Amino acid sequence: MSPNAPVLTIDGPSGAGKGTLSRRVAGRLGWHYLDSGALYRAIGVAAGWEGIDLADPEALRRLASRTEIRFESLGEEEPRVLVDGVDATSELRTETAGAAASAIAALPEVREVLVGRQRAFRRPPGLVADGRDMGTVIFPDAEYKVFLTASAEERAHRRFKQLRDKGIEVTLDGLLREILARDARDAQRPVAPLKPAPDAVTVDTTGVPIDAVVERVLSLLPESVRRGGPQT
Ligand code: C5P
Repeated sequence: MSPNAPVLTIDGPSGAGKGTLSRRVAGRLGWHYLDSGALYRAIGVAAGWEGIDLADPEALRRLASRTEIRFESLGEEEPRVLVDGVDATSELRTETAGAAASAIAALPEVREVLVGRQRAFRRPPGLVADGRDMGTVIFPDAEYKVFLTASAEERAHRRFKQLRDKGIEVTLDGLLREILARDARDAQRPVAPLKPAPDAVTVDTTGVPIDAVVERVLSLLPESVRRGGPQT
């Protein structure tokens, strides 16, 4: 780990487009990418495999310490995620895994064991870190911080399209309800609640095409940094 490698944090609620944006920006800069939500999802999925109760913080803390989570980069696509050597990429994206992740993420015992693992992603030439508390808790000293938002309706729509394209049947109403419930849980929890870092730039993506969001975020970085990465 190099504490000197620059970090761009991208925090915000589910469905704001953090994943796509972060991977695209990381690709443009030639930086590493951390999908911190995938860590919580992976532990949720592992808990399901092992029949661990989501209301047992001590068992979940032990699970979080021993579960091996590896990312295999696929460029701008979502990375492949191996949980204890098993490819769990598709399982991680289900609503069940998201709900389990959100419940587990409320436990300080679990968050604590993941702090060091997340900071270890900070390596030269730089890191784009996507999550809820990247700019507030994990990398408070990050050079560049973005808080990405979009209206709940737009986020539900995007998720609806994503799931439908994957052949998963959901209703728009159900998704909107889940998104609002998850937002409330993430914002109200006592540990690492979802809120913008005081020095974050808020970017609202409602009605803004992804290409424009990528350019807007890149424009927050000095030109010397933007020029450093692979050119497209
Ligand atoms: O971003 P994603 O939807 O994959 O995250 C799943 C859940 O993990 C979120 O709803 C949130 O509760 C939790 N999370 C978190 N802190 C992070 C990333 C995700 O609490 N840095």
